[in-house]
Amino acid sequence: MAKSTKTKLHPTKNPISENIRGSMVELLQTHLATAVDITYQTKQAHWNVKGMNFIAVHKLFDELHEVTEAYVDDIAERLTALGGQAHGTVQAATENTVLDPYPLDLVKSEDHLKRLTDSYAKWSAAVEKGIDEASEAGDDLTEDLLTEVGRGLDKSIYFLESHFQA
Ligand SMILES: [Fe+2]
Repeated sequence: MAKSTKTKLHPTKNPISENIRGSMVELLQTHLATAVDITYQTKQAHWNVKGMNFIAVHKLFDELHEVTEAYVDDIAERLTALGGQAHGTVQAATENTVLDPYPLDLVKSEDHLKRLTDSYAKWSAAVEKGIDEASEAGDDLTEDLLTEVGRGLDKSIYFLESHFQA
């Protein structure tokens, strides 16, 4: 979650006011942490899933991993473009993620599909709020980035939950 302590920024010619950049960096820090977290939740599922549809879900989880890994980079680099210092380590992610810890003992594909859906839905809801926050702040480019992330998350939710909706 965003910290209340004032975010220190690097000097930059970025035209957005320092005040807004500070709040956008705090916002993006939460999403960076969550992106790092979910990137390894998908790998956890990729490595440990078992069941009759093994190959399909094993590959799906790796594809989802690649999508979120790209988001890690996009979010971190928007944050640094605003003059922020990215908190991109696993330890920082543990402190700032909006997600609950992924259970280490899941095996069955349906369990991984449902648990990952929960994670994606939770992050998607936080991204929705972030889009509003960026919009209210007038930071169109952060709003656009979060909109792209949100659209991708919702597509991933569709891919995950289509396995158990019918
Ligand atoms: Fe692999």
